[in-house]
Amino acid sequence: MSLLDRALALGLPAVPRPILRRFARRYIAGTRFEDAARVVRSLARDGAMATLDILGELNHTRQEVERSVQAYVDLFRRVHEERLPRTNVSVKLTALGLLVEQELCLDAMRRILATASELGNFVRIDMEDSSCTAPTLAIFGTLRREFPGRVGPVLQARLRRTLDDAEQLSSEPLNVRLCKGIYIEPRTIAYTDPEIIRANFTLVLERLLERGAYVGIATHDERLVYEALRLVRRFGLPPDRYEFQMLYGVDEELRRILIGAGHRLRVYVPYGEQWYAYSLRRLRENPQIAGYVFRALFRKA
Ligand code: FDA
Repeated sequence: MSLLDRALALGLPAVPRPILRRFARRYIAGTRFEDAARVVRSLARDGAMATLDILGELNHTRQEVERSVQAYVDLFRRVHEERLPRTNVSVKLTALGLLVEQELCLDAMRRILATASELGNFVRIDMEDSSCTAPTLAIFGTLRREFPGRVGPVLQARLRRTLDDAEQLSSEPLNVRLCKGIYIEPRTIAYTDPEIIRANFTLVLERLLERGAYVGIATHDERLVYEALRLVRRFGLPPDRYEFQMLYGVDEELRRILIGAGHRLRVYVPYGEQWYAYSLRRLRENPQIAGYVFRALFRKA
């Protein structure tokens, strides 16, 4: 990313929402379940699996949490009724009251997981900023015993604690997503050098695979994809022992290359009305988008 793009990315929150929305469209399936279902079917035709995310985070009240639980329970039912192929669901615990009361969040997850288990499906717990890491892993620790094989966490290579977390979590059967981590964290707890984040991603991945974990390798970074392929080959893993994961709207060519080479690949498909926070994160990490957005802004002015 050029210095100019980096500087412009910081100014994104000042851009009028209608302009941002125009650029955010590529990352979001639409506002309704039907939009997401259409995308999932089209991905399936291309050989990809999906994980659905209802946009929205940080619920503060019991009523909001209740609405989120209901939305996720309904989503699992619709995925089942509509027979969406190879589709699971990703949830954010702050939408389920993590920062309000852990017991409330645990109860919410139990209800979602009861439905997911009944329908033979799986819940991925997205990882949010570092204030959520310990409580999220604690809740996962409880849920994995109650719903074995139905729930998995996310680890972020950016965090200094992640290698320890990976070793501890993989002492039991584990289905985990590994990503770099999108939230900017202080140097005291996170690596800030992109090269070290990459090196840590590879090290954590190696440790997880050698300990038998099923890993969702979530990256569009071709260097990391290469490292992952190297490890898969070294450990002699068959294609059903790991999967690649990518975000909807990012690097479809790499997606096709990996599927064409016989690897499993799952696409993260967000949909819903609350598009803003998610889109801002995606636009910020697009190496060119800040430039596009600002040029559009000037054309408008
Ligand atoms: P990097 O950001 O270096 O991108 C590599 C290349 O991919 C770029 O050079 C560019 O070509 C392309 N690219 C990346 N992002 C783009 C964009 N937005 N638009 C256009 N091109 C882009 N994080 C987190 O903290 N918690 C979580 O739970 C998750 N969950 C998650 C699920 C899945 C399926 C994925 C793929 C990612 C996440 N992430 C996440 C996000 C992750 O932490 C990370 O921020 C992004 O994947 C970008 O990092 P890369 O590894 O792709 O490298």
